[in-house]
Amino acid sequence: MLKGARVELTDLEVEALGTRGFFTRPFFIGNEAALAARAEALARAESGVLHAAGIRRGADKTQDSSVRGDLIGWVEPEPDTALGALRERFALLGRALSEGAYLGLGRFDLQLACYPGGGAHYSRHVDAFPGQSNRRATAIWYANEAWKTEHGGVLRLHPKDLPPVDIPPMLDTLVVFLSERIEHEVLPTHARRLALTAWFYGRDSG
Ligand code: OGA
Ligand code: MN
Repeated sequence: MLKGARVELTDLEVEALGTRGFFTRPFFIGNEAALAARAEALARAESGVLHAAGIRRGADKTQDSSVRGDLIGWVEPEPDTALGALRERFALLGRALSEGAYLGLGRFDLQLACYPGGGAHYSRHVDAFPGQSNRRATAIWYANEAWKTEHGGVLRLHPKDLPPVDIPPMLDTLVVFLSERIEHEVLPTHARRLALTAWFYGRDSG
C-alpha cells in the first residue's frame, strides 16, 4: 500500500457520476494490497464475528434472508493492517469525490459483508431515501479472487432511464454511486462473496 498516495478521479469518472449516477474502476488499490486486504476480510468472515444483516432500523429491525442474505460487520480505523490501509484509501476517495465531484462529503462508515453462497442475495433497494438520511455516496470494493460467471452474485445497478448494468464482484473492482439515486440489487450468489462498502455522509451530518 502506498502510504499517503492520492486518489484522484478521472474526467470520465466525474462525468459518469454526474450523468449516470455511478462509475466503476477495475483496479482500485493494486493486486498486492488487494490480496492482503482480501486475506484479512476472509479471516474476519471465517472467525464468526460477522452477524446477519437487518433490513430495518431501530425497533423494527428484523432478519429476513428473503430480502438480504449477507453477514456484516463494521471496519474501524486500525493501524498496520491491510484493511486499515484500505480504509485509508476510502478516506482519500471521499476527499477526491468532494474535490472532483463537489459532493461535500464528510465522515463515512465502512462495512464488511459476506454472502455465504447458497443463493444469498439482496433485493432491489436504495441505500438512502431523499431527506431521511444523510448518506450521499456509496462506494463498494470487492474482495473475490477468481470470481466466475456461474457464481452469480453480480451487483445490478438500475440507473434512471438507462438499461440495468451488471458488475461482477471481482477482486479490486470499485464501484461508486449516488446513494439516493441508484437502485441496485445483489443477484443470487453461489459462492462466498466478500465486499467492503463505504457510505459517505454529507459534511453537515453529525
Ligand atoms: C448494500 C449493497 C451491494 C454489493 O450493502 O447496501 O447494496 O454489491 N451491497 O455488495
Ligand atoms: Mn445497497
